[in-house]
Amino acid sequence: MKLEVNGVIHELDVEDEMPLLWALREELGLRGTRFGCGMGLCGACTVHVDGRAQRSCVTPVSMVAGKPVRTIEDLGSPEAMHPVQQEWLRLSVPQCGYCQPGMQMAAVAFLDQRQAEAPDADLPPPTDEEVRRAITNICRCGCYERIRRAVVKAGTVG
Ligand code: FES
Ligand code: FES
Repeated sequence: MKLEVNGVIHELDVEDEMPLLWALREELGLRGTRFGCGMGLCGACTVHVDGRAQRSCVTPVSMVAGKPVRTIEDLGSPEAMHPVQQEWLRLSVPQCGYCQPGMQMAAVAFLDQRQAEAPDADLPPPTDEEVRRAITNICRCGCYERIRRAVVKAGTVG
């Protein structure tokens, strides 16, 4: 099947039921997307499918055929960080870092979606409560407060 990831079309010879996470990590070598619970609960495996946050561990690869997938590898680089990543760095958000790719993908999807729903409006930054409701990923290190502050600030900038 054909899979579009980060703007590149790949031809994969895999079972339809293979989790997207496996396809990304094992078939395409994109190891930035993490495996946590494998049950759709923690969000460590969050990627974008058609611009929306999706938990790739519970998404069969066949479900995303024909839809663009974006992973953390495409979000930014040390030389050209995404605004969310710039705030992450400024606020020293992570501790161990394991949950962070999924957190950043969830954060960017949330901010992009918000912007898309009010394209012409002068959008106020999201509230702490809005971020809390939108991003349900789990961080075992408990960096939630800094994560929310970074998302609010990135929403202010963007
Ligand atoms: S690894 Fe996918 S939600 Fe936890
Ligand atoms: S920074 Fe360690 S799990 Fe979130």
